[in-house]
Amino acid sequence: MEHDVLLQMTDICKEFPGVKALDHVSLTVKRGTVHALMGENGAGKSTLMKCLFGMYNKNSGQIFLEGKEINFKSSKEALENGVAMVHQELNQALKRNVMDNLWLGRYPKIAGVMVNEKKIYEDTKAVFQELGIDVDPKRIMSTMPVSQRQMVEIAKAVSYNSKIIVFDEPTSSLTEQEVEHLFKIINMLRDRGCGIIYISHKMAEILRISDEVTIMRDGQYVATRPAKELTTEEIIRLMVGRELTNQFPPKTNTPGEVALEVEGLTAQYSHLKDVSFNVRQGEIVGLAGLDGSGRTETLENIFGIATRHSGTIRLHGKEVRNRNARESIKNGFAMLTEERRATGIFGILNIRENTVISSLKKHKKFFWLREKTMREDTQWSIDAMHTKTPTQETKIRSLSGGNQQKVILGRWLLTEPEVLLLDEPTRGIDVGAKYEIYQLIIDLANKGKCVIVVSSEMPELLGICDRILVMSGGRLAGEVDAKEATQEQIMTYAAKYV
Ligand SMILES: Nc1ncnc2c1ncn2[C@@H]1O[C@H](COP(=O)(O)OP(=O)(O)OP(=O)(O)O)[C@@H](O)[C@H]1O
Ligand SMILES: [Mg+2]
Repeated sequence: MEHDVLLQMTDICKEFPGVKALDHVSLTVKRGTVHALMGENGAGKSTLMKCLFGMYNKNSGQIFLEGKEINFKSSKEALENGVAMVHQELNQALKRNVMDNLWLGRYPKIAGVMVNEKKIYEDTKAVFQELGIDVDPKRIMSTMPVSQRQMVEIAKAVSYNSKIIVFDEPTSSLTEQEVEHLFKIINMLRDRGCGIIYISHKMAEILRISDEVTIMRDGQYVATRPAKELTTEEIIRLMVGRELTNQFPPKTNTPGEVALEVEGLTAQYSHLKDVSFNVRQGEIVGLAGLDGSGRTETLENIFGIATRHSGTIRLHGKEVRNRNARESIKNGFAMLTEERRATGIFGILNIRENTVISSLKKHKKFFWLREKTMREDTQWSIDAMHTKTPTQETKIRSLSGGNQQKVILGRWLLTEPEVLLLDEPTRGIDVGAKYEIYQLIIDLANKGKCVIVVSSEMPELLGICDRILVMSGGRLAGEVDAKEATQEQIMTYAAKYV
């Protein structure tokens, strides 16, 4: 079947102070297709979409929707004219309920409260039913996990009956089942003749869901190919501009004495039960398991941001209580949380402030902070991860999503922790930058630190860990040596208590 052109973006340019974000980029999306947009962190994917969606004013270039030139001045105008977008950073009214979030701006309001509650409720129900989403329309947003909030955002985009729907890294916080669900929704939209623009760093997803792939590099258009003709290697080559021979750096760390002992860890408010394990100095231990198996809870209980029911934690033979994050940091622990955008980023602060905020003690001299060392530490972090930013004074919120993550990771590395807890450290990070992060993790182990990594990507765990603990139903289900283990072995353990 021939697909006609639905959206045509030609020669789009966009500059920010000190950054040429888009340099004559073109994109053609056909009706009834899924078009993937790929490129390294900071390549310009989100910016291109924000120009389409009326959030940014392009400097030059043209956009045509069904042959008619468009130039939306606001996202409201875009939505009303058939273009919807699910954002990389969720921006929801967390204190309001689900249905308010879905229809905000579309229903008349009196004193900030939407009138006709009943119709809004019914309409929400109808949309959710059509999409197979099981969420109470009256639930307050802040009480829901990010993944469900993401599904609400997706439902909202779909509810506008748009011709073009942009998904900017929609799956980074979704569980496996939710990803399947989203793919069903996307296929349904494609069958209806929508044009879907899909941004993701996950190769397997791209190759599975998309019909065509456009690749960008450094704000420029590189190529558009049918997905069928592409392989992961080819995509990487086009994205990075060179062959990427090794996915993982050589493992040079040698585990020593036992340093961290976790015994009988049981959570107060989750199903985490009786988790016991040790981590040696200089050892990288992976936590594998399905979504909801207790991996994140284990880290949160160790770090004191979830309430422990019982269990003890010892570091170098001495019991540590870690009752809250502040106490844990003092005891030499650091944790990169899964919900970084919600808990980790101080949007109005600049890169340097965001980088040093957890290691300020180090920079204190009498009553003031030493500018020079803060500068040096920040530069180290920028260089180590190749963070793409014009200056250290740039506000973190003007960085691309992946580059924001690098800043937060750098922040924790700079606290020089004895124990580093990493929850999905490479989520939203492009393939090239992943390598740098693996190298940093191995370097830390080389310095004798204990590292615990949670990841849903099994090859990643097998590639960088010494040992992998597999969780299932809130308990430890097995342990494998990363050098010899296979994915099948891990999967078997992961299914043990399900
Ligand atoms: N509001 C802004 N102000 C200043 N610079 C910006 C702004 N938005 C984006 N940029 C810059 O434009 C470039 C492209 O960023 P963009 O967010 O489009 O990247 P991306 O391809 O979406 O990356 P990622 O995969 O990390 O999400 C980056 O260098 C970024 O710092
Ligand atoms: Mg982006």
